[in-house]
Amino acid sequence: MQNKNIILGITGGIAAYKSAELTRLLRHADCNVRVIMTQNAQEFITPLTLQTLSGNQVYTKMFAQDLELNIKHIALARSADLVVIAPASANFIAKLAYGLADDLLSTVCLATTAPIAIAPAMNKIMWQNTITQKNIASLQDRGINIWGPAAGDLACNEIGLGRMLEATEIFSLIKNFFTSKILQGVNILITAGPTQEALDPVRFLTNKSSGKMGYAIARAAEQAGANVTLISGPTSLLNPPNVKRIGVISAEEMYSQVIKQIKNTAIFISTAAVADYRPAKTAKQKIKKTGEELTLELQKTPDILAAVARLPKKPFTIGFAAETENVKKNAIKKLQTKNLDMIVANKVGKNLGFESDNNELLILSKNAPEIKLSYAAKTQLAKEFITIVANKIKHKG
Ligand SMILES: Cc1cc2nc3c(=O)[nH]c(=O)nc-3n(C[C@H](O)[C@H](O)[C@H](O)COP(=O)(O)O)c2cc1C
Repeated sequence: MQNKNIILGITGGIAAYKSAELTRLLRHADCNVRVIMTQNAQEFITPLTLQTLSGNQVYTKMFAQDLELNIKHIALARSADLVVIAPASANFIAKLAYGLADDLLSTVCLATTAPIAIAPAMNKIMWQNTITQKNIASLQDRGINIWGPAAGDLACNEIGLGRMLEATEIFSLIKNFFTSKILQGVNILITAGPTQEALDPVRFLTNKSSGKMGYAIARAAEQAGANVTLISGPTSLLNPPNVKRIGVISAEEMYSQVIKQIKNTAIFISTAAVADYRPAKTAKQKIKKTGEELTLELQKTPDILAAVARLPKKPFTIGFAAETENVKKNAIKKLQTKNLDMIVANKVGKNLGFESDNNELLILSKNAPEIKLSYAAKTQLAKEFITIVANKIKHKG
């Protein structure tokens, strides 16, 4: 952490007092801490306290009188290695989510390319409020780290979720942030989403895959330090931050892109629900309604997963098997016939698999005991799955 430039943003909440201790801990670890306070934060703690503890001037105003200071504001945004907002008020979280820049701290957040982490602190009803949760989800989508809140006694004499993490906990998270990550520099190629196989210019065959599991894995891998390329069929999902996304439509296009990108890939994860068959012919014009029946002739699409597993220098190859029945049996068959290193089986159905935000996974590998990840949010499962994959790779050498 030595010599890391950390901007500590303090907003208007009771927990602002904890940030004095955080400042002390960071300075003790030889970080260069620059504190920016909102106007309302100064109702709770004085700039003088933070100036003394950080050993640096505290920034409180957007429009400083002296020119040198004004320029420094921009320099602050540029030089930061990490921006931590602690406490992050409900108001500030909303401003960040909507990209407002009406004071120094929100302007710096908008102007910086440094990673941002927020430690929310508020009354439990404010935290549970749908709009706060929506804002948090939007910040998460943009790759902003959300640290906490914790449950416990709140300043408003209530008990619940909304307490800011302790200064020592935030300090540990900052420390972890700067230490090397489990998949640092590893090249990972992931496929996600459905494919669309055109029947004519306006119709196609597809499936119910939402892409959520693949996107969650892409994000978890990126957060674990990997260089991630995501080849995605059509979805409505936002591009995970710092992930190279290549959009494709059909199985054929997905196959071409995978073969193009596979060189230097250490891990290939196939979560896409690729169509097994496509119309043998794509009509040039819209097919007209004619007789009582219409017979479609279908032909096989390329088997992307098997093609990767057949490569002479194949990456660690992981398939996903979405099944409605005989989940384990079908997954084992796929693991063996396609010569995969690992397969992740999941049942699709009510509140599971396709379209759902939650899932449960069964991980099967060659010569290793099976691992069950029980019902949880796909984002959580993705993190656990990536840890398992990273450990496998490490032991494989
Ligand atoms: C005593 C007191 C305690 C407060 N504590 C919090 C809090 O913990 N979290 C929060 O989001 N807002 C809290 N507020 C409300 C914020 O201070 C208010 O929304 C303010 O506009 C936030 O400004 P800022 O985000 O620009 O710092 C508190 C207000 C008062 C009067």
